[in-house]
Parts: sequence; structure tokens; C-alpha cells
Amino acid sequence: MALLIVGLIPLGLYMQDLPLSPQKLQLYSWHKWAGVTVFMLLWVRVAARLAWPPPPLPWQMSRWQQQAAHAGHLALYLLMLAIPLSGWLMSSAKGVQTVWFGILPIPDLIAKDKALGAQLAELHALLNWTLMAVLAAHVAAALKHHWIDRDNVLTRMLPSGAAPLPPERS
Ligand code: HEM
Repeated sequence: MALLIVGLIPLGLYMQDLPLSPQKLQLYSWHKWAGVTVFMLLWVRVAARLAWPPPPLPWQMSRWQQQAAHAGHLALYLLMLAIPLSGWLMSSAKGVQTVWFGILPIPDLIAKDKALGAQLAELHALLNWTLMAVLAAHVAAALKHHWIDRDNVLTRMLPSGAAPLPPERS
């Protein structure tokens, strides 16, 4: 999902400035297909998180750091929901139905409305800039845990499992 999302951002920024051409329309389709895929995968992700809750955060983290981490994770989930949804609503309002990978027609959520479509495009862009800010903080925090705090917050995401915590500092 991270790869899809991180790829969708530059694709979205690039495609919209292109002059109208078959290539532009193709890129729009790929963007929408990948975005709808993120929307579908989100539900698998939410189910997996409910079934296998993450381990507790390291005890060394202060209360405000733990609250900031939880708020950041909640923001990422909300944005993973709101961004594809705003794209889907925008496409519906612009009257361009999404046909997932050219096979599965995704129903339009609202009727065609050009003015609303333009507003939803602005909302889609705003949510994406918010995502970029939250992602930057998320990556910076993960690197801080790894290189400065030297705890297992980053390594525990690897398939090989969590690395042992460093010994308690006196
Ligand atoms: C996680 C999923 C998605 C991400 C990260 C994403 C990201 C972006 C970004 C960064 C832009 C450029 C915004 C700007 O600066 O104006 C954009 C534009 C756009 N996105 Fe998405 N998008 C996602 C999902 C979707 C979905 C599901 C759809 C439609 C079904 C969609 C349709 C569009 C369209 C039509 C534009 C061009 C808007 C215009 O021409 O004004 N996006 N997207």
C-alpha cells in the first residue's frame, strides 16, 4: 500500500499538467485504478489490524510521544480512506465513471455536477498535501526511533520479526 500511495502522488501531480492526449487519459485511468485498489486494500488492512493488534509501543516513549504516534497513525488511516473516496466522488461529479482495470465498472456515487467536481478536485489535492506532511513526520519519527532511540519500532515491521530491545539505560 505504501508503494502504491507513494507512486500515486507524483503520478497525480504529473498527469494533471499534461495537455489533453491519449497518454494523459491513460495515466488518469492508471491513477484511478491504483487509487481504487488502495481503497479496497484498506479494508483488508483494517480487518488485519483488528485481528492482529500491533505490539505496545516501547516503554521508553513518553506519554506525549505515544499520543502523537497514535494520532499520526489514526491520521494515516483517515487519509487512506478520505483520499480515494474524494477521488471517486470527484470522478463521479465530473461525469467520468471509473472502470477498474477496464473490467469492473465502479458505480458513480453522486450525479454529474461540474462545479462540485472542481471543488472535490481541490479537496483531493488538499488531502494529498496533508498526507505528504503526515508521511514526512511518520518517516522522520521511524528514523529517529531507529538511529537515535535505537529501539525496535522500525525493525519489528520486518518479516523476520522484532529485534530485541536495547538494555534499559540507567
Ligand atoms: C491513495 C489514493 C490516491 C492518491 C494518493 C492520489 C493522489 C493524487 C494527487 C497527488 C493528485 C494531484 C492533486 C493536485 O495537486 O491537484 C491527484 C489528482 C487526481 N486524482 Fe488522485 N489519488 C488517489 C486516489 C484517486 C482515486 C481513487 C481517484 C478516482 C477514482 C482519483 C482521481 C484523481 C483525478 C481525476 C485527479 C486529477 C484532478 C484534476 O485533474 O484536477 N485519485 N491524485
